[in-house]
Order: sequence, then C-alpha cells, then structure tokens
Amino acid sequence: MNETEIKYLLPGIPGLHEIDVYEKEGGYGALRKALGMKAGEVIEEVKKSNLRGRGGACFPTGLKWSFMPKSSEKPKYLCVNADEGEPGTFKDREILEQNPHLLIEGVLIASYAMGIKTAYVYIRGEYVKWMNILERAIAEAYEKGYIGKNVGGSKYSVDIFVHRGAGAYICGEESSLMNSLEGERGYPRVRPPFPAQYGLWGCPTTINNVETLANVPVIIKNGADWYLKIGNEKHPGTLLYGVSGHVNNPGVFELPTDVLLTDLINRYAGGMRDNKKIKAVIPGGSSTPILRGDSIEGVRMNADSLKEAGSSIGTGGVVVMDEDTDIPLVLERIARFYHHESCGQCTPCREGTGWMEKIIKRINCGGGTMKDLDMLMNVANNIEGNTICALGDAAAWPVQSALRHFRDEFEEKIKNAETVAA
Ligand SMILES: Cc1cc2nc3c(=O)[nH]c(=O)nc-3n(C[C@H](O)[C@H](O)[C@H](O)COP(=O)(O)O)c2cc1C
Repeated sequence: MNETEIKYLLPGIPGLHEIDVYEKEGGYGALRKALGMKAGEVIEEVKKSNLRGRGGACFPTGLKWSFMPKSSEKPKYLCVNADEGEPGTFKDREILEQNPHLLIEGVLIASYAMGIKTAYVYIRGEYVKWMNILERAIAEAYEKGYIGKNVGGSKYSVDIFVHRGAGAYICGEESSLMNSLEGERGYPRVRPPFPAQYGLWGCPTTINNVETLANVPVIIKNGADWYLKIGNEKHPGTLLYGVSGHVNNPGVFELPTDVLLTDLINRYAGGMRDNKKIKAVIPGGSSTPILRGDSIEGVRMNADSLKEAGSSIGTGGVVVMDEDTDIPLVLERIARFYHHESCGQCTPCREGTGWMEKIIKRINCGGGTMKDLDMLMNVANNIEGNTICALGDAAAWPVQSALRHFRDEFEEKIKNAETVAA
C-alpha cells in the first residue's frame, strides 16, 4: 500500500475527538463487530494480524492476550500504558489529543476479548491537557452506552478509570506501573510470576501501550489479512514516528513500518537543517542504540531491519543529530537522565548509572583518561542484563553504542585535555 495513503491513527479529520464526529466516521463499529464475535475469535484475529506492541519491546499483542486465563475467580484487569516517559517519544499524546475514542474503542475490544471488566489508563502526570481530553471522551462514551453496564445492549459490562502518574519514568515499566497504581512505591517486580498470572492486586492483568490498543479497532474492522498488507508483514501496520532534533520539520508522522529511515528524515521531516550532514540517529527513543549517520542507508523502520542495523525500533522516537553534534555531551545528557530515573532497587543500575554519568562528565570536563573508556564500557556491560527491569539495559545501550561508533570523539577529548595539561 502507498506510504501516504494509510492513516488510521491520525487521519486528520477535524473534530474527531468528539464522539459524534467519531461515530459519523464509522467509530465504535469495530466494537459492535467484536461483540458479535466470540472473545477467543477476537484474540485469534489480533494474533493473525501480527500486531506488535508499540511501547518499546515489540511483543506480539495477540500472544500476550492469549496468556490471560480464560476463566478466573479473581477479577482481571487491563492497564493502558499512557506514561510516555521515554526521551524522544511524544506520539501517544497525539492519539489522546486527536483520536481518543479510537483508544477507548481499542480498550473496550481488548477488555471484551480477555473477559476484563475494569481497565485503567495510567497517564503521565504532566499530561494534564491530554488527561482532560481523554476524561471528556470517556464521559461521552459512558453517556452513549459504549462503556458501563451492558455495552451496546450486550451482556458485557466494563468500566474505564484514568489514573494520573507522578512523573517517574520507571512507572512506565509495566510492573512498576502496577505497583504505582496500587499506591505502592514504583519498584519493578521480579518475574515470574508474569502479570497475566499475578498482576494488579495479584490478579491476572494485561498491560498495553496506547498506540498498540489504538491499532485494534482497525484490525477488527478490516480484518487481519488487510492489516498484514500495511508495511512489513512481520511487523505490520503504521507507526507514529516522532521525529525530533536537527531536522527542518520535526513532528509526528504516521507511516507504514517499511518506510526508509532516510525517507522519514529527508522526505517527511523536511531534511537536515542548513543542509548539514547526519552524524547520528537514535531511532526509537533514548534507550535504543545510537546509529552512525553514514550507516542508515537502506534501514527500514521495523523491528527486523533496525535489529540488523544494530539498534531497535523501540517507540519510534527518532532523534536526528547533525555533523556539529558533540556526541560525548549528548551521551552525558542521556546518562544523567537514567541516573536520575533509576529507582535504586538493583545495585548494578543504582550505582552503575551514577558511575557512567560521572565518567562521561569527567571526559567532557577535560579530566578523562584512556582507561576511563574501558571502565565506562565495563560498567555498562555489567549493568546490561543484570537488573530486574529493562531500565538498566536502557541505560547501558546508549553508552555501549556511542563508544562503539564514536570512540574517536571520546579519545579526541581526552587527548586534547592531555595536551592542554602538558
Ligand atoms: C524503564 C521503562 C519505562 C517504560 N516506559 C513505558 C512507557 O512510558 N509507555 C509504554 O507504553 N511502555 C513503557 N515501557 C514498556 C512497558 O514495560 C511494556 O513493555 C509496555 O507497556 C507493553 O505494552 P505493549 O506490549 O503494547 O508495547 C517501559 C519499559 C521500561 C523498562
């Protein structure tokens, strides 16, 4: 399908955030269709569609839903992850602003498919504007009978609540999110047990990202076969790419998953400011490994292509840096963020993120030595894979990749400082 033809998340229809306009455009038709299907059939359709999570880990959504027990003595819950705390990521808020009923419809279909009667939207604390839009949309949907008792005249009942976070990046991690919702400290939980067995208040729970759930109505409406034709078959659909940095036209672009990274930058984001060269690109939010600008030719914005290139699709938050960018300074800024946001539960992350920040800062301030570079890599390697949650990995990957691809810049800073000292 043509790259620019398909826009189902952000179709740009004026007033779409209002329920009357949404309904006029066929909205809530997919919910009616889903309610006419067996719950298992809805899960099968989502499985067949190859929909993969948009929250960063790319986990197959249908498979995740199938982990939920079909019957349970305990209540089952859906948590919608609207925390959007990853630096470089600003796409979920566009759905909340422009198309909140699409998310609500996705939440309702997902809840019906998994036999869930209560869904929570955990929204980033700073997103006051978007929370207000969403709460208004939820109230409209209650009024029209899409949420609440006997949805659309069916026997199915469900409630949706909005819960405001308090500005901690760690609370976007799914198990911290649940602890935070419970009113506990936002510490990640050790798994197993996984949320489908032991989630919110010890009950079976599924956590999905906003954009993931917003894809569901379109899959149910048009069918998995239609969906599989958009973008890359193994990772289909459109993605909301948030492009920021040294481009002429930064913003959020809805495009299929087979779009070229170079097209995203040059055709859609308006190309480089002042025609400068691309030095580096972070392709999927601050935790994804940094790529060299001269290595992105032919890279497509899907899970496999970015993995092959040595990075990850993450959240699709593309940060573009031009030839004048000081990579060690960028890395210091990123390292400061992870140090600040580490919850402190695991020693390698609590201590290691601080050590990494200190070493990078020392290099930037002219006090670094060549030995620091090996030590920096060593600290990063010892964080990766050794923590309860992936914040540790998220802190390590930018450091490892920056040292791998831009070691010369760190060495130059060290050499220059040595020359001045001598
Ligand atoms: C430190 C950290 C922060 C995260 N923040 C978010 C977030 O803000 N939003 C989000 O959807 N997922 C976030 N995730 C990923 C979630 O843990 C989880 O994988 C995701 O919500 C699952 O939804 P999906 O399968 O629909 O992608 C974060 C993960 C980590 C390790």
